[in-house]
Amino acid sequence: MTKVRFPADGASPQSETEAKALKISQSVVRDGSGGSSTVRSRERTKKVLTVVGARPQFVKAAVVSRHLRILAGNAPFNEVLVHTGQHYDHLMSDVFFQQLEMTPAARNLEVGSSSPAQQLALMMERLDLVFREEQPDAVLVYGDTNSTLAAAIVSTRYDIPLVHVEAGERIFRRREVPEEVNRVLTDHAASLCLTSTQRATSYLLREGMSPERVRFVGDPMFDLFTWARTNLARLTVVSPETLGVAPDGYHLATIHRAQNTSSREALIPLLEALDRSSLPVLLPVHPRVRDLLRKWRWQPRANLRLVEPLGYFDFLAALLSCRKVVTDSGGVTREAFFARRPCIVPMENSWWVEIAEAGWALETGSDTEALTEALESFTPPNEAPEGLFGDGHSADRIVREVNELLAGTAAHNAAWHPHGTFEVLPQARATNFTHRNYRVFLQRFIDAGYEFAPFDKGAELLETGKPFVLLRHDVDLDLHRALRIAEIEADAGVHSTFFLLVRTDHYNLFSAESTDVVRRLLVLGHYLGLHFDVAAYPNATAAEDLAAACAQEVTLLQSWFEREITMVSYHRPSALVLTGDRALSHPLPHTYMPLYTRSIRYMSDSRGQWREGEPTLTDTFRERKPFHILTHPIWWNERPTTPYEALQQYVHDQRRALELSVARNSASYRVGWMARALEP
Ligand code: UD1
Ligand code: UDP
Repeated sequence: MTKVRFPADGASPQSETEAKALKISQSVVRDGSGGSSTVRSRERTKKVLTVVGARPQFVKAAVVSRHLRILAGNAPFNEVLVHTGQHYDHLMSDVFFQQLEMTPAARNLEVGSSSPAQQLALMMERLDLVFREEQPDAVLVYGDTNSTLAAAIVSTRYDIPLVHVEAGERIFRRREVPEEVNRVLTDHAASLCLTSTQRATSYLLREGMSPERVRFVGDPMFDLFTWARTNLARLTVVSPETLGVAPDGYHLATIHRAQNTSSREALIPLLEALDRSSLPVLLPVHPRVRDLLRKWRWQPRANLRLVEPLGYFDFLAALLSCRKVVTDSGGVTREAFFARRPCIVPMENSWWVEIAEAGWALETGSDTEALTEALESFTPPNEAPEGLFGDGHSADRIVREVNELLAGTAAHNAAWHPHGTFEVLPQARATNFTHRNYRVFLQRFIDAGYEFAPFDKGAELLETGKPFVLLRHDVDLDLHRALRIAEIEADAGVHSTFFLLVRTDHYNLFSAESTDVVRRLLVLGHYLGLHFDVAAYPNATAAEDLAAACAQEVTLLQSWFEREITMVSYHRPSALVLTGDRALSHPLPHTYMPLYTRSIRYMSDSRGQWREGEPTLTDTFRERKPFHILTHPIWWNERPTTPYEALQQYVHDQRRALELSVARNSASYRVGWMARALEP
């Protein structure tokens, strides 16, 4: 889709040139010398549009806004705060702006509640207008709500660098957790992903992000928590006592996740379990839950105390004097950890795996008995790891990173996204190396009267002047793919030589399975050669050393498969190999000797391409001269693939094979597809 820059007015999109002209005209200001006609160009202060909409985002944005306020005149950019209106109840929204002394949002889009898709659509429509009017230099978003995703999508439409705070967290449960998709999409739209944990950084790198797009800054909620804790006495309005619970004599709970509230069957057993607790449980009720309980006319009977949502400092006060926390909130899980309160998470997975790994959070899923049990007996260790969420200075880092991005934008105006050299897949074009084309390729030689011969006939055939092909395959990675090629060739009546590695990490030639594959190659009428990896002998400095190692491998191969080996090819040939020195494989010939690379036309599909063109389109073919052709089974596949995809597929297959092998040997790994695959 074409990207557009800001249209001049709300109506029709403007051309890029017009957009640039508009930007420039805005940065041209009259100097202050009172009516002088001279104009000078000045960089206008950069503008960052922060888009928030839900409770946890007010908390996170408050930290950065606060930091900018402290920097005052030295703040490197202006922030314009936009509130989508996703959360709108006083206790879900205004109370945070007031308590955290945030500048009121410059705009409130008042989208309110509707179905997720409608809500997103409305947010995008209204943000679109804001983006046009404000013309920000960057957009800053937090977390994983619908407001985050809407802003991310709109910023990509206007090609505005997007900074995502709290990027990279993954729960690997897309179906039940809508926020996972929001976060993944936002991450991948962002020019800059700022992570709260090192684990999130590693997830993003694993997803193929270039490292310059990812920065660990720590968790701004930790900054705020650290500051608030020491100032809590003067900031708290509602204390736990006013809510009817005694300090250290209650548990604190919050529930709002879609997976826990989507049905009566999900939510009520959870609340009933809290109600059965031996200590009182204080539950500030999220409006989503409030509406459901009203609809179902459900009320607790025993120890569960339902209260209105609390303001930030009041909630923190309640957290700091509770015994345990039960929550499906990402923010509250972390705050419980900061406060060193044991946290029970009624979800299968929580985002903050590091807290669970440290023993401070326990995931109980939908098992309410486990929840009851945990309320009574879950005890974390005495120690807690420090620094998981940064050092309490993440706001400083966020501002610095945004500023660097903005500076980069100015310096690389043409590139626009200084961090956005988005990943380029190697060789994105699919090749025509399909099995079908391989058959056609062979048939062309057959139709032209070529004979497919073993290598040891090369010299003799050259004398005759008849057309022939020494067809060779270096089996670098995968014996099964080699067998597929062998079958296609045998169907066409063609025989070739398969050069096998004896020393490789990729297959074990002497396993029962590999031995069987090679025997089938032989039954199909093909020949074997030794594929020799010089790099497996790093201490060999002279040709004689290599020849000795080579002879040893030949002997092994010969005796295992009971076939005479008469030819050697080199894997990852060194400079020494490329000289073609016969002594390297003495007494056997090798494929880099002048006979096979000069007297006979040598062509190969190395790296998934015919580097010198397709052999049957060359003069050599037209003149019916002999060929030595190397193809690698890995590149030839059923469907057109890029070399990158072919390698990815190989890695995937290897992984599956490894998993199966582990499952065969360990009953506890027999899950999902592995268990099915092992069924008799
Ligand atoms: C949203 C976020 C979630 C975040 C949570 C923080 C998405 C998809 N989810 O979930 O990631 O953890 O905020 O609290 O963005 N409602 C009110 N008053 C309000 C707000 C909501 O009554 O001020 C009610 C409405 O009935 C609404 C429901 O709560 O339909 C859910 O609100 P919504 O913003 O869609 O999702 P949350 O559950 O709040
Ligand atoms: N919070 C609050 N009052 C409450 C419940 C939560 O101030 O009654 C704060 C909490 O301290 C945390 C943030 O809201 O800072 C977490 O928001 P929420 O649980 O709504 O969303 P999540 O973090 O799960 O996205």
